[in-house]
Amino acid sequence: MAYNLLKGKRGIIFGALDENSIAWKTALKVKEEGGSFTLTNAPIAMRMGKINELAKTCGAEVIPADATSEQDLSNLISKSMEVLGGKLDFILHSIGMSPNVRKDKAYGDLNYDWFLKTLDISGVSFHKVMQTAEKADALNEWGSVVALTYIAAQRTFPDYSDMAQAKSVLESIGRSYGYRYGKLKNVRVNTISQSPTKTTAGAGISGFDVFYDYAQMMSPLGNASAEDCANYIVLMFSDYSRMVTMQNLMHDGGFSATGITEDLIERLSK
Ligand SMILES: NC(=O)c1ccc[n+]([C@@H]2O[C@H](COP(=O)([O-])OP(=O)(O)OC[C@H]3O[C@@H](n4cnc5c(N)ncnc54)[C@H](O)[C@@H]3O)[C@@H](O)[C@H]2O)c1
Repeated sequence: MAYNLLKGKRGIIFGALDENSIAWKTALKVKEEGGSFTLTNAPIAMRMGKINELAKTCGAEVIPADATSEQDLSNLISKSMEVLGGKLDFILHSIGMSPNVRKDKAYGDLNYDWFLKTLDISGVSFHKVMQTAEKADALNEWGSVVALTYIAAQRTFPDYSDMAQAKSVLESIGRSYGYRYGKLKNVRVNTISQSPTKTTAGAGISGFDVFYDYAQMMSPLGNASAEDCANYIVLMFSDYSRMVTMQNLMHDGGFSATGITEDLIERLSK
């Protein structure tokens, strides 16, 4: 069911790789709710060509941008305003990548050049997006910026490796830029801490299936799906959440507030 929650709103959605991506599901929901947007991803991800399918369905233009490149971001933001016919009301940062995780490096044997890349792609890029938007005066008053994160920023999940540090940086940027943008333009900035979700980035973490099942057992509502997450993002882009800013919002079926569950007790009972 759609409610026209985003009617007349314009924005940019980063990170739709394939139909499992949280950003992909979000694009479909935003469209359904009356929003218009451009889609973007790293030039390498374009080679898969999938994003063009989504663009066609949504009537959206695709503008490639490496989220670590200020030049690409500047081009993306100015072109988006041109294509959409005005300033923006929302931005979704749905980006994560760690070369160390991808290449299965142990946490005691990290490649530091790759570590810096992880931080840049998955953390600092959030700052770059907002700084570029601020300099171009691209966001309307009461605009909403959302980035996706994971609870490994607060608690250790061994195989999450240096992505845990990147997510801590990302969440901290959400607070600091949220303060700045709030004072400047009443723009709100939040991070959403999502349950494990079966996507390309998710499945790239070794042992993913086990911590997916563990989180499922540890959450009274079960794991939040990518589609649930898309709905929550729509709410955060809408005017119904206009006084929420600088928050790390848990979207995890109750996982983060649960100590143990009957399901787990049963499973571990000898
Ligand atoms: N899947 C999960 O379990 C889970 C849980 C919590 C949070 N998240 C977060 O959700 C977000 C979206 O991930 P997803 O699960 O939909 O997976 P996904 O693999 O579909 O999306 C990750 C995206 O990041 C993009 N990306 C990588 N490097 C980039 C760069 N340099 N510039 C621009 N884009 C780049 C990829 O092309 C891809 O589209 C990520 O921030 C991820 O960490 C995922």
